[in-house]
Amino acid sequence: MILRSLKPDEAAEVAALIHRSTNHWYREKLGSVIFGGEPEDCLVFPQTYESLDPGCCLVAEIDGVLAGSCFYHPRETHVGLGIMNAAPEFAGRGVARALLAEIIRRAGDLPVRLVSSALNLDSYSLYTKAGFRPVALFQDMVLLPDDVLELADSAGSVRRAVDGDLPAMLALEEAIAGVRRAPDLRHFLANDDGHWTTFVHLDESGCLDGWLASVDHPGSRLIGPGVMREERITLALIRAQQAVARGGAPVILVPAAASALTGQLYRWGARNVELHVLQVHGSYKEPAGIVMPTFLPESG
Ligand SMILES: CC(C)(COP(=O)(O)OP(=O)(O)OC[C@H]1O[C@@H](n2cnc3c(N)ncnc32)[C@H](O)[C@@H]1OP(=O)(O)O)[C@@H](O)C(=O)NCCC(=O)NCCS
Repeated sequence: MILRSLKPDEAAEVAALIHRSTNHWYREKLGSVIFGGEPEDCLVFPQTYESLDPGCCLVAEIDGVLAGSCFYHPRETHVGLGIMNAAPEFAGRGVARALLAEIIRRAGDLPVRLVSSALNLDSYSLYTKAGFRPVALFQDMVLLPDDVLELADSAGSVRRAVDGDLPAMLALEEAIAGVRRAPDLRHFLANDDGHWTTFVHLDESGCLDGWLASVDHPGSRLIGPGVMREERITLALIRAQQAVARGGAPVILVPAAASALTGQLYRWGARNVELHVLQVHGSYKEPAGIVMPTFLPESG
């Protein structure tokens, strides 16, 4: 097995690998698929990640064939990891373990963070066997566009984020989640590819006390990531995101322990579609508020 960086002309091949291996695993084990559309939809992963972190897709090659891939995202406070895939014909041969070990090595002293499915024991075990530990549980919830979203006053206001919000957004995420990742937040705000929508919540004195991004692409429809000081702020931001016209119903990763939040989402008609765990290799600080992760860019 050779581990090397993805070459620029291999984006379509890695997109097809992500589509095929993920759908194969979920079809075989859970009777469903993650990516309902075409393999090209998964180009959103190499394209987004190459623009954010050029050269940070590690691939495993066996006998000249692309057997696995994993993206990693070096940030000031940590390294984010995802999306990880092994081709079905190479499953169980240590491809993912080798990719993971190399990324942990490259991370050096920085913690490595990822969000792994609690329904996918191959994935969960891959990480826990490598020394990761689950630190938080999230419910993947879906609201339909016509679900009623009435809400009590959040004691503040919501508006679209602007470039000038970046410093306050960064500071809030660092204060609440203990992570700092300017490239990702800058990417959401710049929205060069047109898939991103970001809202901020301001308290009554005008201070930013929450933000929530979302992506709307056939390969990834998600509300998140975001951080908020309180659950009522989270609900106001989700409500704003839900009002945005999209190509399909987005998935929202909600902290399972935030019972007021999940309770209101249930009252709005939300359904649970999966469970994910935040896994960390290295140091971790309990959040001082609400943290909503995402898979693109994998935020942990
Ligand atoms: C999850 C996935 C990446 C694993 O890839 P893989 O190359 O088959 O995994 P590996 O062969 O490296 O095995 C991983 C380890 O998990 C272990 N493992 C798997 N299931 C286990 C279980 N139930 N209990 C304990 N250990 C388990 C394996 O034994 C192996 O450990 P070992 O090498 O010490 O024996 C692959 O199944 C895949 O691509 N799935 C679809 C996409 C996906 O779900 N990606 C992850 C989320 S982004």
